[in-house]
Amino acid sequence: MPENKSSRNKTIDFSEAEGQKYLERCFFPAENKTLASEEILDKTLCGDSFKILENMPRNFAELIIADPPYNLEKTYDSTKFKERTSQEYFEYTKNWVALCLPILKSNGTMYICCDWKSSITIADVLCTLEAEKKLVIQNRITWEREKGRGAKANWKNCHEDIWFVTKSNEYTFNLDAVKMRRKVIAPYKQDGKPKDWSESEQGNFRDTCPSNFWSDISIPFWSMAENTAHPTQKAEKLLAKLILASSNAGDTVFDPFCGSGSTSVTAKKLGRHWCGIEKEKRYCEFTEYRLEMANENKNIQGYKDGIFYERNTAPND
Ligand SMILES: C[S@@+](CC[C@H](N)C(=O)[O-])C[C@H]1O[C@@H](n2cnc3c(N)ncnc32)[C@H](O)[C@@H]1O
Repeated sequence: MPENKSSRNKTIDFSEAEGQKYLERCFFPAENKTLASEEILDKTLCGDSFKILENMPRNFAELIIADPPYNLEKTYDSTKFKERTSQEYFEYTKNWVALCLPILKSNGTMYICCDWKSSITIADVLCTLEAEKKLVIQNRITWEREKGRGAKANWKNCHEDIWFVTKSNEYTFNLDAVKMRRKVIAPYKQDGKPKDWSESEQGNFRDTCPSNFWSDISIPFWSMAENTAHPTQKAEKLLAKLILASSNAGDTVFDPFCGSGSTSVTAKKLGRHWCGIEKEKRYCEFTEYRLEMANENKNIQGYKDGIFYERNTAPND
């Protein structure tokens, strides 16, 4: 762990030497070799998705969660992702989505994360594939990130999109597993009894249906146990919603751009199988370290005993 860190700073990071034992737990697929489900289940595959996806087993996963590089310049450890033209980003996206579709089961779901600008191109790709009857677009979730990227002559970017697509109209959606617990501001009673709300030691609450606007999740920050040195890490709470809604215990969740492993770790905590691909060795090490931590601690910040709480309101967070 780096020196000079404040005692409350829990950011996961380590030297190459410290990371070595975690890297050894990863799977390095050989080029042009077909992969069997058994050899990649519950594994982190270290390498280039565009090469590995071609060799993945068909009908492998019930759920794919993809958080690809957004179409902007960003350094991912040893690699700089360069902004492309919309047409180039369209081809790039269509390429990896097409490679992912055969990996998804016929009743499977795929979520794709993006910022507002990449979302325009990704929507275009998804509409093209829908017209070719390769998938069905079900919804677009908008996630308010809370922490925005400031701009001098523009509105700061405070939200991201998550596209929800399925392979067909037969798919899993566990509504009760993703209800939101909200405080009741005006506790209305009928015949002296609470109308559609409940009383608890923490106050009055109602469990509500989740909408496609998410304002209850912040990006991981330095004092959170899940935080790593990855530059664009997603929160486990965000992944937990997707995984609980769109898969069942024992299902397989696959992430073709797994970064610090948030999808794999959350899948493991929720009793699903996982598999992720990441090309940066340092991020593969973070993933394996977090997977090891998940053996002891299955806590997901903001989610407790089957309930998603509003931001910063979950007991013992
Ligand atoms: C937006 S980040 C994903 C972050 C992740 N959701 C998390 O919570 O940590 C995208 C990741 O894709 C990886 N990546 C980019 N191109 C890749 C490729 N061709 N093959 C495998 N990984 C790739 C990057 O190194 C980066 O870690």
